[in-house]
Amino acid sequence: MNARLSTVIFLFAAAISLPAQRSYQAVYSFPAQDATQGVAADSGYVYAISGNAISKYTHDGDFVDRWEETDKELIRHFDGGIIIDGLLYCSHSNFPQVPMASSIEVFDPRDLHHVKTVSLGIEYGSCTWIVRGDDCWYACFANYDKSGWTSGGEILHDATWTQIVRFDDQFRRTGGWILPRALFDEIRPHSLSGCLFIDGRFYCTGHDATKLFVLEFPPYGMTLRWTGTIDIPFRGQGIAMDPYGNLWGIDRKTHKLVKAQAVNSDWLNDAVIYQIYPSSFKDSDADGKGDIKGVVSKLDYIQSLGVSAIWFNPIFESSWVDGGYDIKDYYKVDSRFGTNTDVAVLAEQCHKRGMKLILDLVPGHTSMDHPWFRQSMEADANQKYSDYYIWADRLPSRKDSLLLEKMLSSDNPLQNTAGKWMRSDAPRAQYYMKNYFACQPSLNYGYAHPDPSRAWEQGIDAPGPKAVRGELKNIISFWFDKGVDGFRVDMAKSLVKGDKDYSATTALWQEMRQWVDSNYPGRILISEWGNPALSLNAGFNVDMCLNQRSFPIRRMYFDEKHQADGGCYFYPDGGAPSVRNLYGKQWEKSEIDDSTSAMKMLKRYYEHYAMADSISAGKGHYAMITTNHDHFRFNTGRRNSPASLKVMMAWILTQQLPILYYGDEIGMRSLAGLPSVEGSNHNGKERSGSRTPMQWDSTPNCGFSSCAPESAYLPVCPEWTPANNYADYLDWKAKGCPNPTSGGLITVESQDKDPESLLNWTRKLIALRKSSPAFHSDGFWEPVYPDTGAYPMVYRRYRSDENYVIVLNPTSKNLKAEIPHQSCGSAQIVMSSGKVGYRLGKTSDVVNMSGMSVMIVKLNM
Ligand code: BGC
Repeated sequence: MNARLSTVIFLFAAAISLPAQRSYQAVYSFPAQDATQGVAADSGYVYAISGNAISKYTHDGDFVDRWEETDKELIRHFDGGIIIDGLLYCSHSNFPQVPMASSIEVFDPRDLHHVKTVSLGIEYGSCTWIVRGDDCWYACFANYDKSGWTSGGEILHDATWTQIVRFDDQFRRTGGWILPRALFDEIRPHSLSGCLFIDGRFYCTGHDATKLFVLEFPPYGMTLRWTGTIDIPFRGQGIAMDPYGNLWGIDRKTHKLVKAQAVNSDWLNDAVIYQIYPSSFKDSDADGKGDIKGVVSKLDYIQSLGVSAIWFNPIFESSWVDGGYDIKDYYKVDSRFGTNTDVAVLAEQCHKRGMKLILDLVPGHTSMDHPWFRQSMEADANQKYSDYYIWADRLPSRKDSLLLEKMLSSDNPLQNTAGKWMRSDAPRAQYYMKNYFACQPSLNYGYAHPDPSRAWEQGIDAPGPKAVRGELKNIISFWFDKGVDGFRVDMAKSLVKGDKDYSATTALWQEMRQWVDSNYPGRILISEWGNPALSLNAGFNVDMCLNQRSFPIRRMYFDEKHQADGGCYFYPDGGAPSVRNLYGKQWEKSEIDDSTSAMKMLKRYYEHYAMADSISAGKGHYAMITTNHDHFRFNTGRRNSPASLKVMMAWILTQQLPILYYGDEIGMRSLAGLPSVEGSNHNGKERSGSRTPMQWDSTPNCGFSSCAPESAYLPVCPEWTPANNYADYLDWKAKGCPNPTSGGLITVESQDKDPESLLNWTRKLIALRKSSPAFHSDGFWEPVYPDTGAYPMVYRRYRSDENYVIVLNPTSKNLKAEIPHQSCGSAQIVMSSGKVGYRLGKTSDVVNMSGMSVMIVKLNM
């Protein structure tokens, strides 16, 4: 293993940000020694910088050390301070009559010894603060003329100009901005006395304001502008942020050092979302399919998990060719689930229990049985819904023809995803555009760059696309008015066609966002997109991480073939390539991917997650799923014991925003080879394995329904079975269930009272993440590479002085690993599964893990 990787803690993830909607509240304050001007902070200490002195305190306010200028002739008037790469840089706020105004003094914060003086080469003007950009420094200078002072010592801020100067790494001046007069006049009463620089924005304090002024500048031109303010609990002068995201400031009136933490009013920040596939959760009327009344009867159970919201796969009137994703009426609940009134009752009952209700919005396509599509098929193309879909008389390319032929020659063309077009015998035209299966015609949101030679390519503001956008708002408001709190948006990026950079799709969702915010403030939109940079920019609150083939995260759960019998990171034999499929058949040699080691999988995941984590910081959330209705569950292949599932559950529930799929909390198993129901299995992809009925108890159909077993939506398989597919499972049952992989049953009933069960492990993890800000979505995440390679998986979560190390061993082997030293204080294991040990050392720490074990360690720094 790369020696550097083995000892370095990677810090690339934890981008701190200050989203505009946040405010900060004081959590602690203590008197600083003198009228402090500047403040700096690192993970252990806070530094009060004033006049000719620097005082060092612990975060609890205990005085530690002080540096003072011994040359009494020298007046420095330190104003700003910042710690960068282990050095403390202090800037001078002097006046033209005092020399040295344009330099900074550098100290070693460990013992406060003076390291060097750096000249900034600005002739006039006093430097109120310096901050660090990506590869540069910015310093703020004000040039006061003498009339700017009164004899009373109060500063009138009559600066004749204020400018922000950019310096390179060597403090050579490389550019900058003079604050436009109008802008300066606006903030004149506040001065520009302290600053944080985060994500390309300046956050400036002002003397008489309890606000941070957000100053943004475009990378070109001279136009600086205020873009907002953030409430802070001190009348600001100097300001600093420690590595946990706490703000430190000086209150100008009381001269106290104040520590402040973000008040995050976003309920998603500490949320866990529970996903329900409604046809298989709980059946109240014995028809073999789940329904809303069934869900209501189980809300107390869902609440007992500690989750914050439930999202449902589509519950609207459907042709049931794609599990409800082929909608016939967006405004009506499918009769199998109940009525629209039942949704209102469900919303009320969720809210009563402190949970939100999220439905599934399928904006990209309808069923081909939808009355809108039926009308658009007609020869008369001037009717209300004629342009709700995309019809063409020829196919645009040879590739499209080939794909269409391929689809038409398959066993079940209507449930096929190949290509973009489907042939039709409608009088309207020969072909319609589809979005997923051929039976799911695309709704027409227009083309980003319509080609005039293709009559079907309408612009986004043509009457058809405009009407469809209006319809989307109607659907959203219809359900919001019934008490629904948000939508998960199916295939969110698929709306505008020919939109390579997604700019038109982004504009469409931004329009929806603005409309939702003004009409339904606080309601949320979650995208099925898989690209937080695009999706959060488009206005979604949450983007879902997808475990599709192209995603690095998928190899944590599954092999290349979307199955799991090896070939992924979370596997008992530690990432060894998959050689058999779930039917026991040997893969062809060409199908075995042995080019990917566990280390590569881990690194790719870390890189992807770090990128998503920093992109979403302050902008929204990146949701990790245990699984969903499109993929196999954790419990698949040989990953089928409570111990191994506890490891995976700990992983997902300690990430940014987890989505827990129903039944994963008890370890329900995905078997291959289950019957295909309502389009669940298609094009070689098996989705039935994750859509089986929820297993409540040991009564028939596991308490899901009192129907005859053959009428149940799909069969149940509640035992801890070593069988990987349904045929083998039936065989195994007929033989009396020999050698189960664990004791008990995979039901709520059997696990509810067992303190060691996966169900209670899941509840404890959710409770821990709720009560500890380090695990919240805005807590920081950082991978730690152990000396011993890919296993165990180690990462840190931290925020607001809370620090945790999470250590996961998904393999069946005992592991001992050395990891970079994490704390000078103490380490306490707060949750664990298996035999584990954590020993703090001097330069490195040692972890001991039995096979399939987990520990969550709280560090007291
Ligand atoms: C849903 C699938 C569905 C498809 C088409 C997906 O992303 O999760 O279950 O088949 O969209 O609507």
